[in-house]
Amino acid sequence: MKTVNAKNVSKNKWAANEGFSSLGIKSVNYGAFNGEWLKTGGEEVPILSPIDNREISKVKVADASDYEKVIEMSQKIFPKWSMYPAPKRGEIVRQMGEVLRKNKSELGRLITMEMGKILSEGEGEVQEIIDISDFAVGLSRQLYGKTMPSERAMHRMYEQWHPLGTVGVITAFNFPMAVWGWNTMIALVCGDTVIWKPSSKTPLCAIALYNILAPVVKEWPGVLNLVIGPSKTIGEKMINDKRIPLISATGSVSLGYKVYEAASRRMGRTILELGGNNAVIVMPSADIDLAIRAILFGAVGTSGQRCTTIRRVIIHKSVYNKFIEKLLKAYKQIKIGNPLLKGIMMGPLVDGIAVKDMMDAIDTIKKQGGKIIYGGKVLDGYPSKNYVEPCLVEANKDMDIVKQETFAPILYLLKVSDINEAIELHNSVPQGLSSSIFSQNLKEIELFLSARGSDCGIANVNMSTSGAEIGGAFGGEKETGGGRESGSDSWKQYMRRQSVAINWSDEMPLAQGIKFDI
Ligand code: UN1
Repeated sequence: MKTVNAKNVSKNKWAANEGFSSLGIKSVNYGAFNGEWLKTGGEEVPILSPIDNREISKVKVADASDYEKVIEMSQKIFPKWSMYPAPKRGEIVRQMGEVLRKNKSELGRLITMEMGKILSEGEGEVQEIIDISDFAVGLSRQLYGKTMPSERAMHRMYEQWHPLGTVGVITAFNFPMAVWGWNTMIALVCGDTVIWKPSSKTPLCAIALYNILAPVVKEWPGVLNLVIGPSKTIGEKMINDKRIPLISATGSVSLGYKVYEAASRRMGRTILELGGNNAVIVMPSADIDLAIRAILFGAVGTSGQRCTTIRRVIIHKSVYNKFIEKLLKAYKQIKIGNPLLKGIMMGPLVDGIAVKDMMDAIDTIKKQGGKIIYGGKVLDGYPSKNYVEPCLVEANKDMDIVKQETFAPILYLLKVSDINEAIELHNSVPQGLSSSIFSQNLKEIELFLSARGSDCGIANVNMSTSGAEIGGAFGGEKETGGGRESGSDSWKQYMRRQSVAINWSDEMPLAQGIKFDI
């Protein structure tokens, strides 16, 4: 493990006025937007960078009356926005994408500053929103409904898709911009209005986005909305609000249960992106060097704080020792330090709570018989206590903690004897987001991809479980929540389907041959 230039951290300037003025970040920022920034009535909260715990700036959060102003605006504009032709809505999304392109590097830097992922991942996250806006622009001309033949003469049947209403988007700290992008760009071309509640850990990313996008949507106040505030007040209001037909939420399984229960009680829809416990299976024919590279990015990238992070590697016994030897060698070369600096691979965890959760998990691992073969300590000599060593654990399948998602760079190594045992172990956790197999054996690969194989929403071959492109539908099964966002036909969840039948004959025939004449 190399520690590079950690001390340079404090030399980087980012005081609000000098650092992010192009993104409109001030020393104190309002936390609610409904076409204009509201003079919010909530607390003033300092936002610290995990890099060195220095304050970046402050946010004055929203209170209940701010929330009301936001939802009212979103409702008021909806009838007009929903009737604005979809390709024209797409044109607005195209302009949003242009603004994001121009501000990509500054937005990426802000992500790094506020949540600690390395700069290239920060910029990659912005690229993900640019990609989804391109996708959404094309989609705005492709919100296709089917036409089906009617059993009645001179009748036409088809289905069409209408805008749904106001969509509530709740996002987590680890992708403080991209997940908003997946939901918002699609929702907008679908004719919905959006209210975004970002994580309280990363509100500046949200404020920056709305600052730079406000001019693009100035003719449409209430289409893009933001409320920053505590889950207990703002979050509770959103999930229980009958005016919000769809809540798309990303976060923990316990958050998912809350959202699902509240929304279901009022027949609201949900898209849930909850915990993952993603595994890679390594079989005897695997290209081990390729697997190590993928696992390094998948387990250590974003400091193990992606929902798609690799948390388990299931290794065939015949390659186990060779694999562990190479993995250890690779882990020793991970460069930890200031995520703003070139060459760094792993920045800090998001805050002290995350560090404590990781350390608690490591205690539990030891109690449950796991063998720590690398790392797992908090690093000294850094500008904050948020820097940790990534951790490798030789685990066994009876350890309860292996079934849980610890949002940190802890990787469990599990030994198996054959592909069937590997798949069984793979599927033995409550979560079902992403999965992968490293193998050159067609039969093993096809088995892994078959109905008897991976039970996850995402199944990859010879690559990481993380780092999905926007083109596919993103999401997972079981406790991951079942939601699908981003590409493919995920857009259908943001619209309501209407089946239409038109009689253009002079008769009134009934379906199923029923006779009902006077
Ligand atoms: C998340 O961690 O919540 O597939 C999203 C990936 C990214 C998105 C992760 N494109 O890792």
